[in-house]
Amino acid sequence: ASGDGDGGPSSDFHVDSEGLQRQIDELASFSDSPAPSVTRVLYTDKDVQARRYIKGIMNQLGLAVREDAVGNIFGRWEGSEPELGAVATGSHVDAIPFSGKFDGVVGVLGALEAISLLKRSAFLPKRSLEVIMFTSEEPTRFGISCLGSRLMAGIEELAQSLRNVVDNQNVSFSDAAGSAGYKLHLEDLHSVFLKKDSYSAFIELHIEQGPILEKEGIPIGIVTAIAAPASLKVDFEGNGGHAGAVLMPARNDAGLAAAELALAVEKHVLESGSIDTVGTVGILQLHPGAINSIPSKSHLEIDVRDIDEKRRNDVIEKIRRSATQISKNRGVELSEFKIINQDPPALSDKSVVDAMEFAAKQLNLEYKKMISRAYHDSLFMARVSPMGMIFIPCYKGYSHKPEEYASPEDMANGVKVLALTMAKLSLE
Ligand code: GLV
Ligand code: MN
Ligand code: MN
Ligand code: MN
Repeated sequence: ASGDGDGGPSSDFHVDSEGLQRQIDELASFSDSPAPSVTRVLYTDKDVQARRYIKGIMNQLGLAVREDAVGNIFGRWEGSEPELGAVATGSHVDAIPFSGKFDGVVGVLGALEAISLLKRSAFLPKRSLEVIMFTSEEPTRFGISCLGSRLMAGIEELAQSLRNVVDNQNVSFSDAAGSAGYKLHLEDLHSVFLKKDSYSAFIELHIEQGPILEKEGIPIGIVTAIAAPASLKVDFEGNGGHAGAVLMPARNDAGLAAAELALAVEKHVLESGSIDTVGTVGILQLHPGAINSIPSKSHLEIDVRDIDEKRRNDVIEKIRRSATQISKNRGVELSEFKIINQDPPALSDKSVVDAMEFAAKQLNLEYKKMISRAYHDSLFMARVSPMGMIFIPCYKGYSHKPEEYASPEDMANGVKVLALTMAKLSLE
């Protein structure tokens, strides 16, 4: 079947685009910042409302709903051979401050629509199909990205470190989880680790968050690899003091040390010589934060990424050396230089890529193989399952800002490719 309207799969394969858009708009209303921006942070009331909303849809679809200790949510459609590894899909609905409606959300609500579509088409899965809503893909609250999927991948150090982390209001991870209804015993975190071979495949549908598909007029991106992200926390401390009374030679200004380090990050990134190396100082805080007080403390959080892990690590090493040098030159203390995560890249699995290509061809949708420069829960699911990702175009490549947008047609295409990919993998 060619899918060109003569009885191929696309002809009776109709995505409820209006319903999907309505759900996206409803979910966006659970936000701690005014529309069109969205702010939905881990374990806040809005996050809890979003969770309830997603579980409601899963229930309506007749999926068996389960939550693990940290609130990863699973909706399972049992296949005829439930003992086989399931085919899973999913993404996140947490949203960084003042972001948009589509990042992550398309991969959760779109996945649920893909399941609904398969049910409407009277498809009978052999391997079970599962939609996962991951807890805290975004690092907003505790500084740890992909928190739920990292734990699912069995990263023991994370299970340990979650015993001690606090948010910027000094709320511990377990207290925050408790306030969202997840009464954790920290020993429980091991229960989040996935059992071996739980999944035979994991596929994530996501907006591209880059401009390529839109610019080239291609409706589908098939992701072959996810770039390697890292993040660092740095603190400088100086003596502070009165902005009028302390003369310039007597100062050791922690704020200027941070400013100098921010510029050093840019310099080291550019020195890599590759357009694929990127670095961002997205957080820069000064204490006490008064116009007439010399900063006595500064705090930076630095994001560095590359498709080449070694090149990224070289940049991190240079940033470390600069931080040390700046602290010496300025007589400030480098009180912390901490690598929060330094993840390797992930490759998509050929079996999943083949299935995605098959699906796009069936649907007569042009596609392009590409890498993901953003990270996703797929980065960690790749450690425990063959992984692949489907990208759809988004307006001007905008993401992590309120202007983020994907059209209903593009979402429908992504949902169809996802549905067909899952169907195919379910029968293998
Ligand atoms: C995830 O949101 C990322 O920063 O890539
Ligand atoms: Mn994001
Ligand atoms: Mn995302
Ligand atoms: Mn992301």
